[in-house]
Amino acid sequence: MHKTWQTITLIGLILITVGVLVFGCAQKAPTPPTSATIPEGELDPAVWGKVYPDHYASYLKQKEQTKGNSKYGGSVPESHLKEAPIQVKLFAGYPFSEDYNEERGHVWALEDVTGTQRVGPKTISSCWNCKSPNVKPLVDKMGDSFWATPFADLKDQIKHPIACANCHDAKTMALTITSYPLLDALKTRGIDPSKFSRQEMRTMVCAQCHVEYFFKPDNKKVTFPWKYGLKMDDAEKLYEEINFKDWDHKESQAPMLKAQHPDYELFSTGVHAANGVACADCHMPYVKQGQTKISSHHLQSPLNHISQSCQTCHKQSESYLKDQVIGTQDSVFKTKVALETALSEAIDAITAASKNSAAKADMMNQARSLHRKAQWRWDYISAENSMGWHSPKEALRVLGEGIDLARQAQLKANLAIGAAAGGAAGADAGKTPGSGTAVDAAGPGATPKQP
Ligand code: HEC
Ligand code: HEC
Ligand code: HEC
Ligand code: HEC
Repeated sequence: MHKTWQTITLIGLILITVGVLVFGCAQKAPTPPTSATIPEGELDPAVWGKVYPDHYASYLKQKEQTKGNSKYGGSVPESHLKEAPIQVKLFAGYPFSEDYNEERGHVWALEDVTGTQRVGPKTISSCWNCKSPNVKPLVDKMGDSFWATPFADLKDQIKHPIACANCHDAKTMALTITSYPLLDALKTRGIDPSKFSRQEMRTMVCAQCHVEYFFKPDNKKVTFPWKYGLKMDDAEKLYEEINFKDWDHKESQAPMLKAQHPDYELFSTGVHAANGVACADCHMPYVKQGQTKISSHHLQSPLNHISQSCQTCHKQSESYLKDQVIGTQDSVFKTKVALETALSEAIDAITAASKNSAAKADMMNQARSLHRKAQWRWDYISAENSMGWHSPKEALRVLGEGIDLARQAQLKANLAIGAAAGGAAGADAGKTPGSGTAVDAAGPGATPKQP
């Protein structure tokens, strides 16, 4: 019996060693198929493609526009506003209320940024930041004057959509960080990017763009709100500290925050990040391309290649894994819709109360502050690209807090007029179940004042 186990262990060890060797070799950059080299400073992916034709062919597949196996993602630029018209009201007074589509492949980045109705005469070059490898050399040339330069002024110099040079060093093909905003943000957090492991780099190249950011008020430079950490609350703390707002809500007059797409931040709070899994593990798995196996450069929903993306680590069936993802997304989606309803009713209550000249100003300001906080939580999860799947527990926590805050905003607005009139409305609103246990988000003065 003892011998048998030794033999099994030995065979096991041999198999693992062979596996590591074979897999390890497969992971190394293959020798370029031609003797061509990439000229220094080359940004055109077609030229890189002469040296790495399989990678270029895979990259070009990002042109495909299909829903694939997705329920909430996919590569069809559908309108979020048509799917959920309530968002027009939530974004009232801000360009996102006019045009807001689902994202698609990297090769479309320039068409999409120049085609959106959100771009106008006031748009600045900060909006080129995540769209092209031409940005870094332009910042090198222009310094921080790049960011506030009118968007249209640099149009002729932005030639390629997101490409090889955004992620790779042309000489060594090693992964590299070319985004100044990310380098700045890492510095703020005391992190030295040269110390990243290869596995960490397989996430950090994506964190160049798939993050929350704002334009620094003085020079409009793209800045990540990471001073206090990577969580939703940390970004909010910074925005409160510097009194930041993206716009004033047209109906409630609340000073609002627009979330961008905190994919990396939300992912960082989840179980896969905790286990060292990288973005590229799921979004760029090894696939057969031409005669070889390469890291897929067709970045898309992992639901379109579950066997390569998930079954390398999970033994469950493809259908189980797909249902797991979509089932989790369904829960997040339902909670998100509940928050949209709560926000809409809060906006109505604040708008109605603000028409009443007797409304208590301090309570109205508290109601607006609660609207801001609630909608920030909604947008943080809504604008994130995975419908919460990158970190479902965190997504549900954030949305749950949002529902509470939105209902507090509604209650506060009702109290502001109820209290002013000395009438029954305030007393009734004060009795709303749950109001007494609400989190103390409005700070001092959050306790409803009874008339
Ligand atoms: C453990 C696997 C896994 C990892 C790791 C992972 N993702 Fe995802 N990602 C998914 C799944 C699953 C979806 C949902 C796809 C869908 O809805 O079709 C998704 C969705 C997305 C989408 C939207 C895709 C679409 O079709 O609309 C983007 C963008 C994205 N992830 C970026 C990232 C980034 C950036 C990272 C690293 C910070 C990352 N992901 C890490 C599994 C992963
Ligand atoms: C969004 C970032 C990104 C872009 C853009 C990108 N790559 Fe990659 N590339 C990666 C990642 C991540 C890997 C995996 C590296 C690793 O595992 O160390 C990789 C790996 C490679 C490798 C090594 C072999 C392999 O398959 O793992 C080559 C060669 C390569 N890419 C070529 C290209 C070419 C050519 C382009 C442009 C047509 C390109 N890449 C665009 C992120 C990118
Ligand atoms: C230079 C900025 C940049 C980098 C680097 C980058 N992305 Fe993106 N990514 C974008 C933008 C912008 C879009 C949306 C493009 C559009 O809709 O026009 C996008 C879209 C996507 C999509 C959606 C594709 C679809 O078909 O819906 C996925 C998935 C994705 N990125 C994953 C990644 C991963 C994983 C990495 C790192 C390996 C990465 N990205 C690196 C900017 C970037
Ligand atoms: C590189 C390995 C790796 C890949 C690729 C990977 N996972 Fe995981 N996954 C893990 C690890 C490790 C855990 C944590 C297991 C634990 O804590 O017991 C995990 C946990 C999970 C969980 C449990 C989450 C929880 O909250 O406990 C689910 C569901 C899951 N993965 C689904 C997927 C799906 C779907 C994909 C593909 C889109 C995927 N994983 C890709 C390694 C991976």
